[in-house]
Amino acid sequence: MKASILGRYGKQQALRPGDMPAPTPGPNDVLVRVEAAGLNMLDAKIRDGAFKPILPYKVPLVLGHDLAGTVVAVGAKVSRFKKGDAVFARPRDGRIGTFAELIAVNEADLATKPKNLSMVEAASLPLVALTAWQALVESAQVKPGQKVLIHAGSGGVGTIAIQLAKLLGATVATTTSAANADLVRALGADVVVDYRSQRFENELSGYDLVLNSQDADTLQRSLKVLKRGGKLISISGPPDPAFAKAQSLNLVLRLLFRLMSAGIRRKAKRLGVTYTFLFMRADGHQLGGIAQQVETGTLRPVIDRVYPFDQLNDAFAYIETGRAKGKVVVSLDAAHAV
Ligand SMILES: NC(=O)c1ccc[n+]([C@@H]2O[C@H](COP(=O)([O-])OP(=O)(O)OC[C@H]3O[C@@H](n4cnc5c(N)ncnc54)[C@H](OP(=O)(O)O)[C@@H]3O)[C@@H](O)[C@H]2O)c1
Repeated sequence: MKASILGRYGKQQALRPGDMPAPTPGPNDVLVRVEAAGLNMLDAKIRDGAFKPILPYKVPLVLGHDLAGTVVAVGAKVSRFKKGDAVFARPRDGRIGTFAELIAVNEADLATKPKNLSMVEAASLPLVALTAWQALVESAQVKPGQKVLIHAGSGGVGTIAIQLAKLLGATVATTTSAANADLVRALGADVVVDYRSQRFENELSGYDLVLNSQDADTLQRSLKVLKRGGKLISISGPPDPAFAKAQSLNLVLRLLFRLMSAGIRRKAKRLGVTYTFLFMRADGHQLGGIAQQVETGTLRPVIDRVYPFDQLNDAFAYIETGRAKGKVVVSLDAAHAV
């Protein structure tokens, strides 16, 4: 099968087109013909080698964490999907590889594609929507009337997190640059802070939750907007001991993550707030819940650019500018046609 292959780890290492053996689905797997695949910064970080201690993938490797496509075969124990179904997914860690014609996905990671979305639109959602869901619904359990700050509201995670927080009844503030103010307001943001000209901690106070996806400085300043009992959830680090334990990481990494997060955990405790690092996981059941919200029109994907599959490296270069508004997706239509 055609695939885009990472031959060796390296910063901004180009992926090369090539052939990989087609996957053989196991009894609980669904073989999916990928029609569109979303890009995530996680793919770029794995390519650079930054995630080797946590996700030790061997090269040659097919990257890609998001897909939408059509079921071509199912394993003997699969009960929820059949050949011809339109599906979308964030395959679980250890079994990624959506930048390819075919992928075998565990049934538990899959959901039926929302009927009102194209393949490209559906492929933009799984990783970022599951991240927002696991942060706001599962971890923070956001309640109506709470105040939530979403950093980088114009980004992949932010565009969905704003909508989800509004859906949960929160008042939502977000940071972005002035050029994206209209976009985030259209998604439901009540308060927009231009991070280039304003300091968000001077504008906001008494917040129940901050979802951080930015650097250490933003993380530290985020503590100042929380009220006592508030929650700081970061998806950009530092990892904490609970994460190391949940991932069954070795003692060295457990100690390292304990040390890396000691400062922010200590400051959070002093202020009477909690700090949690979130590393999203595949979950087809939650993705099904997200699909329902999409079908009722309460959640919508935001797509910045769509690239043909053979321009995947250009698509990576674009997301790595840090300026994407919503998601970047590659379409595999032409790849299938060749
Ligand atoms: N732990 C997890 O499970 C998990 C899951 C998903 C993502 N992540 C991580 O979360 C981070 C964000 O991911 P993403 O896909 O949402 O990013 P993204 O789509 O690449 O974010 C781009 C957006 O960020 C905005 N931005 C850049 N610098 C900003 C700043 N200082 N303050 C506010 N907004 C800023 C940009 O707006 P302007 O052009 O206006 O600057 C742009 O619209 C990445 O590091 C990613 O790896 C982690």
